[in-house]
Amino acid sequence: MCGIVGYVGSKNAKEKIISGLKSLEYRGYDSAGIAIPINGSVDVRKCVGGIDNLEKIIDDINYDGAVGIGHTRWATHGAPSVINAHPHINASGDIAVVHNGIIENYTEIKEWLVDSYGIEFKSETDTEVIAHLIGVYYDGDLHEAVNRAVKKMRGAYAIAAIAANEPDKIVAVRKDAPLVAGLGKGFNFVASDIPAVLKYVREIYLIENNETLVITKDDVKIFDKDGKTVKRDVFHVTWDVDAAEKGGYEHFMIKEIHEQPDGIKDTLNKRVDKDGNIMLDDIKLTAEDVAGFNRVYIVACGTAYHAGLIGKYTIEKFAGIPVEVDVASEFRYRDPFVDDKTLFIAISQSGETLDTLAALREAKSKGARILSVVNVVGSSVARESDDVFYTWAGPEISVASTKAYTTQLACMYLLSLYIGKLNGHISDNYYNEIIDALRDIPEKVQEILDRKSVVEKLANTFYKKEKIFFVGRGTDTVASKEGSLKLKEISYINSFAIAAGELKHGTIALIDEETLLFALATQDRLFEKMVSNVEEIKARGARVIAIAKEGNEQIAEKSDEVIFIPQAIDEVMPLLAIVPLQLFAYYVSKNRGCNVDKPKNLAKSVTVE
Ligand code: AGP
Repeated sequence: MCGIVGYVGSKNAKEKIISGLKSLEYRGYDSAGIAIPINGSVDVRKCVGGIDNLEKIIDDINYDGAVGIGHTRWATHGAPSVINAHPHINASGDIAVVHNGIIENYTEIKEWLVDSYGIEFKSETDTEVIAHLIGVYYDGDLHEAVNRAVKKMRGAYAIAAIAANEPDKIVAVRKDAPLVAGLGKGFNFVASDIPAVLKYVREIYLIENNETLVITKDDVKIFDKDGKTVKRDVFHVTWDVDAAEKGGYEHFMIKEIHEQPDGIKDTLNKRVDKDGNIMLDDIKLTAEDVAGFNRVYIVACGTAYHAGLIGKYTIEKFAGIPVEVDVASEFRYRDPFVDDKTLFIAISQSGETLDTLAALREAKSKGARILSVVNVVGSSVARESDDVFYTWAGPEISVASTKAYTTQLACMYLLSLYIGKLNGHISDNYYNEIIDALRDIPEKVQEILDRKSVVEKLANTFYKKEKIFFVGRGTDTVASKEGSLKLKEISYINSFAIAAGELKHGTIALIDEETLLFALATQDRLFEKMVSNVEEIKARGARVIAIAKEGNEQIAEKSDEVIFIPQAIDEVMPLLAIVPLQLFAYYVSKNRGCNVDKPKNLAKSVTVE
């Protein structure tokens, strides 16, 4: 986790770094800091909390310069505190370092530094060892000292370092944590992600693993792990910085919820021609490749994992290939049956989730074909995949994922239909029926958004509840899980989701008069059974809000409240059923006074294991 920004130019480093850090707060926001070489030493300022707090402690005019590094933190080693905040400095205070990632052997290095050099550590962080390591190797050449330090370190990291004696440069390194360089005229940046530099530059170098950068105001030099100069193509960013701002909405989450009709439309329209043929330019799967697969693994985390669960339904139904879905942190520790007959699908909004990346590498090492469904162009997951299916949802800033999820679902539908066509599993009629139903989805999502006041009223009524559960059958079980995750992550309400039929095997014991329960009943073929489940729940005194297709009045008689959503065939209902649950989570969070876009203990991009 964490975000880093470095700037080298002629003036106003402070302003540029603060601007970059603000765009990186989705990576963590429990503490922040900045270091600028001033008058022969490194002046470091740090605080607890977000970038707003940092601005308050650097507003004196004497604090500025031409070069600097900044950091926004999501704590791993050591609680959020001023001491643990980055930048960290070496013993003589003339070298400063910011770091994203984890140094796995930091205890070993720390002992060595204490025993050999008598160094006193001030923080509880793994990062402080980097500053001291560079410090003990430094004899006037920061690049050389960083190279020597990196050789001693194990783990995942992106690092940027400055030295008081070389106030014209930043040295940065990348290993398994994202890093880009932003290229200006007479100034350059280094940062964890593109939005951090987009206000000032559009030309980017995407940095690869084990590469070191030496950044001066007129040049960015890239070196590989053997110290050889690397020539990198410039990546030109076409999307607009406005796309990453709130555009009149109170929070990013509600803005992103409203962007779903367009996001889904873009994902579909750019891939499906007027005759319904799917064109996936970045996917090179042939009919022969598909015939060679005997299983599909879908691996992801959190919301992306839920998109994977829907992918299981769609691939098995439309393409007839058995699918296993796993959370990434479990996948690689259980000896999965992966070989060269496996299609491995990684799903990730950020493309930088370390668990997903590690699972992908594990599958790759066993010979699987790697296909990823990713939102961030040029991210690590995308770059390490054989085939990439971009979701094109645009930047998602709110920690709670919404538009990334529905566009991931749209991709899973298209991918499943595409594979089903290649292996001839799906009939033409059924294929056309699904394509037609998908084309209508953006408009139907818009209808739900147009009636959002119904959901808002329910949230205003029930926001004080401390137990809110979700049940459903078939794909509604997945929507239940995603609705529950949304609610708990931004409202801190105790919530779980379970297959409705499983409720009476134990969990029903938790249901009482204090419980609010969402009963998802959007699957026609399972509707009667859901009605019976609602009766069981009502008999235990819970309040029930049903989610049902328009016209299914029977459920309205059994439940306390109903949110009706537009009619569509069962297969595509996951794209609709989730929308009222996203809205409910949003309005509850707002009513409870929570930090909607930046919930406690979380970060947008989880780049630690
Ligand atoms: C979603 O609301 C969550 N914040 C989280 O579960 C997220 O989906 C997960 O961390 C995976 O992230 P990724 O899609 O960037 O890999």
